[in-house]
Amino acid sequence: MMHSPADADGAGAAGDRHESGTATRPRPGGMPNILALDGYGTSRPPEVPLRYRLSSNENSYPPLHPVVEAISAAAASPNLYPPLVPFALAGRLAAVSGVDPKNVWIGAGSVAVLEQLIRGFAGPGDEVIFGWRSYEAYPIIIGAAGAVPVPVPLIGHDQDLAAMARRVGSRTRVVILCNPNNPTGTALSPVMLRTFAAGLPADCLLILDEAYREFVPAQSAFDGTELIRSHANVAVLRTFSKAHGLAGMRVGYAVSAPAIIDVLARVALPFTVGRMAIAAASASLDQHTEIQAQVRETVRERDALIQLARGLGLPVSASAANFLWLSFGSDSGAFTDRCAAASIGVRCFPLEGVRITVGSAQANAAVAGVLNEYAGVLDR
Ligand SMILES: Cc1ncc(COP(=O)(O)O)c(C=O)c1O
Repeated sequence: MMHSPADADGAGAAGDRHESGTATRPRPGGMPNILALDGYGTSRPPEVPLRYRLSSNENSYPPLHPVVEAISAAAASPNLYPPLVPFALAGRLAAVSGVDPKNVWIGAGSVAVLEQLIRGFAGPGDEVIFGWRSYEAYPIIIGAAGAVPVPVPLIGHDQDLAAMARRVGSRTRVVILCNPNNPTGTALSPVMLRTFAAGLPADCLLILDEAYREFVPAQSAFDGTELIRSHANVAVLRTFSKAHGLAGMRVGYAVSAPAIIDVLARVALPFTVGRMAIAAASASLDQHTEIQAQVRETVRERDALIQLARGLGLPVSASAANFLWLSFGSDSGAFTDRCAAASIGVRCFPLEGVRITVGSAQANAAVAGVLNEYAGVLDR
């Protein structure tokens, strides 16, 4: 027999579980503070769709034809589960990274692999350190795992590795470094990264989130997989969402020691990386030359916008990613409104700054227009 909510609020076990007269829906279980977590990207979409979508660090290039063909071919068998573990793609990624396939784990976007890492290595009471501000999913994922988020303030636009190292204690299970950092765009130097990894206790996992690594200038670029060879406690995260332009397909991966990959294999939900996603990523690996050309163009456009903003005296960071960061502080909302008026959607972090994805040439020209206009207003 079904019980009405009124029945459930009555006596007995059900009555003990709910305050009288209030509990008519399931409550989030497990973590006591789940409703205290900020949701991801909770800002509302604009009421009028904007012409340029520069708020999510997506790739603005049209998809490459062979990639679309591979997706179409895979779409012909939606009745079949994808492989439980995409071994063929893992093999290719291992070859690209110069590691063994048993060092690679693929997930439905790098954020899914990050979630598996946190769930696998941090539980209630464990601390996870990360710079702040950084990728907004970090505190959500850590909190949802019941672990304790430990944000360490940036120095200016940069992650403060010295302060993060000092914060490591007996309860620290994981440290996340975002290189380059989202949303400020700055990259950590190879020397700093090597020193930080060497100083971390061996039982503490270091996650190096390299979602934007393809956009880092060659002279300061660091390949985190270098650390895998010397450290058993490092996991590098990579994605097909940015340089490869496959954000909608959801493919990301970790490169790490086999013991860490083994934990990921245990906590991951089965069959989350679909056939079309696997096919798209695999086909995209064949398009290396075209993707490199797109990345070069994005970098060129980014650097031109940074130079423009600097020349105008605007507070722009030295971004090494596919976006700009302007630390407008309390003016962030006003600048965002100006962008919206020019039909440009950007990501506003109220009182902190504004992140603008490098888009098409047309979109970037529109951004340049707003920067010029805004600097003109400030001058008056
Ligand atoms: C720093 C960083 N890491 C990870 C991700 C997640 O990327 P995906 O899950 O699409 O691979 C993003 C997405 O914007 C990001 O900015």
